[in-house]
Amino acid sequence: MTTTCSAPGKIYLFGEHAVVYGEPALACAVELRTRVSARSSNDTTIKSGIGTTGLDFEVHPYVSSAIKKLGSPTVEIKISSDIPVGSGLGSSAAVTVATLAAINIEFGLGYGNEDIARIGHEIEKEVQGAASPTDTFVSTFGGVVEIPSRKRLNLLECGIVIGNTNKGASPKKTAKLVKQVAQLKEEYPDSINPIIKIIGSFARHGKEMISEKNYNSLGKLMNVNHGLLDALGVCTIELSALVYAARNAGAYGAKLTGAGGGGCMVALTDSPREVADAIEKAGGQAIITRFTSEGVIKE
Ligand code: MEV
Repeated sequence: MTTTCSAPGKIYLFGEHAVVYGEPALACAVELRTRVSARSSNDTTIKSGIGTTGLDFEVHPYVSSAIKKLGSPTVEIKISSDIPVGSGLGSSAAVTVATLAAINIEFGLGYGNEDIARIGHEIEKEVQGAASPTDTFVSTFGGVVEIPSRKRLNLLECGIVIGNTNKGASPKKTAKLVKQVAQLKEEYPDSINPIIKIIGSFARHGKEMISEKNYNSLGKLMNVNHGLLDALGVCTIELSALVYAARNAGAYGAKLTGAGGGGCMVALTDSPREVADAIEKAGGQAIITRFTSEGVIKE
């Protein structure tokens, strides 16, 4: 038997960086998936776009850790993914969660989704040194989620376009940027603490706007959130070029998503084609996708 599971990537509508200081954030699963098949075998092999290895904590750290956490069964793993790697869209959480789920079913281990999300978070922390539970939680359960309350909100009914700068994002970079914001906060607490608080307020207002399907106002607040992330020093000229291109093409709003310093931005829009063209013209790689309520699933 072979078991294939897939898990989605995610974007932040509001609240990255501020969430590190306990402020609320809104994260959404998007229909870009990583698929992992697991088959009981005499040897362990892991096959992905990077190459084929055995249990290898250098080349395939997330998958190797997932196999180890589940008792090191000998298993053949095959991975394919729509999620650009290391771009702030939660690709490492998706591969971890999909691997855990596929092995869990293939070997009848009896874990539930709460366990998958928890073990997935442990793996991200071990591999990266630090990680918030956001990515593994959203990848496991899908939907639009308020963090840290885990409150589930309605799915947005508008379109979404992601723009990838194809520059610079990685777990190491995330750790560096989180530290950089912490230093700024320590140096200028009177100035930086209010910025963090204001970013937290977007998630609070955003919840109401989502339930009212008020995507115009949601977009306006995304624009302000982008400005404040820029103020915190985590934006890049490439990210802002894509953000402004999306807004000029009529998006409700656009902002960087994730830690920043490169990686991706996200735009809300009902004209995805136009916004995607504008992002491409501005030098980015555009991905038209949609919000999804589906977390990890057996395919
Ligand atoms: C990174 O995707 C989001 C940050 O808020 C860090 C975190 O929440 O772990 C910058």
